Amino acid sequence: PPGGRVFSGIQPTGVPHLGNYLGALESWVSLQDVYGSVLYSIVDLHAITQPQDPTLLRQNVLDMAASLLACGIDPERSILFQQSQVAEHAELSWILGCLTSMPRLRHLPQWKMKSKQKNEGSVGLYTYPVLQAADILLYKSSHVPVGEDQVQHLELAQDLARVFNHHYGEFFPEPRALLSSTRKVKSLRDPSSKMSKSDPQKHATISLTDSPDDIVLKIRRAVTDFTSEVTYDPDTRPGVSNLVAVHSAVSGLTVEEVVRQARGIDTARYKQLVAEAVVQRLEPIRLEIQRLKDNRDHLEKVLAHGAQKARELASPVLKEVRQRVGF
Ligand code: ADP
Ligand code: NA
Repeated sequence: PPGGRVFSGIQPTGVPHLGNYLGALESWVSLQDVYGSVLYSIVDLHAITQPQDPTLLRQNVLDMAASLLACGIDPERSILFQQSQVAEHAELSWILGCLTSMPRLRHLPQWKMKSKQKNEGSVGLYTYPVLQAADILLYKSSHVPVGEDQVQHLELAQDLARVFNHHYGEFFPEPRALLSSTRKVKSLRDPSSKMSKSDPQKHATISLTDSPDDIVLKIRRAVTDFTSEVTYDPDTRPGVSNLVAVHSAVSGLTVEEVVRQARGIDTARYKQLVAEAVVQRLEPIRLEIQRLKDNRDHLEKVLAHGAQKARELASPVLKEVRQRVGF
């Protein structure tokens, strides 16, 4: 495998949805075959930038761990761990925060969006991208799989690597983005917005633990339009195009192949085909998540093992950082 190290994080939102799977987790799984060193973190330090119920947070971390394993993250080939169990993240974040100017953070999209929703945000929410930079640099990561919405945050990590190197001598490699090539999966009820865990609408989001019946129902209710033919044109026909894109992604067929197969079928019948393809793809994952969720001891063991391996990498890096800073 090529040199380099992959790092990515996901918030403990419980069981992921189809958008998370197709947009991120599926590629996380395949990166295990490409890179020799891969770290995936369940980022609970990031999660508490929004209010969290402690019992639910703990459960959500375990549900995310079960889901990542069920999707194919292999704890023998990847370091899968819970961010808060590796204290070095917070310490490096502090040091990097002292190299970051206030205006540099003010214009980053997440702060602008989430602090506006709340009218004010915490200091933690404001410095969230600095913690992300620390997550990445702590392992001297070279490659970071990100969605488009995270590109500006990765640029901050690149800047901070440069700034640190400038002040304290060449040390951190500049991490590079591995941009997800898949289009965002759209909400089934409003194809102008992305599928999201926080969507309050019923039937808008497919969870990896939805039963086959749930999936059939949700896709049957998916918003399409008044044309019954199946075509792919995301700009003018976002609803049916989202179904085609999902169908293509879960089946491995190209968009053109999917559309060709659907020739002569109306959208109502086509939804049945899409639902079958989604069920076929998710069913083994759903069953494995259920099996793992019943085995809390095992999940805790996997996370403890991951944290130990992460610490083994993080600790010499932080030791060197401390030395250079003058501690
Ligand atoms: P959510 O919006 O449901 O809270 P996150 O923002 O936590 O999801 O995203 C976690 C990962 O999943 C990120 O890499 C993000 O780019 C990806 N992701 C989230 N929603 C979608 C979607 N609808 N389609 C494709 N990828 C998505
Ligand atoms: Na989000």
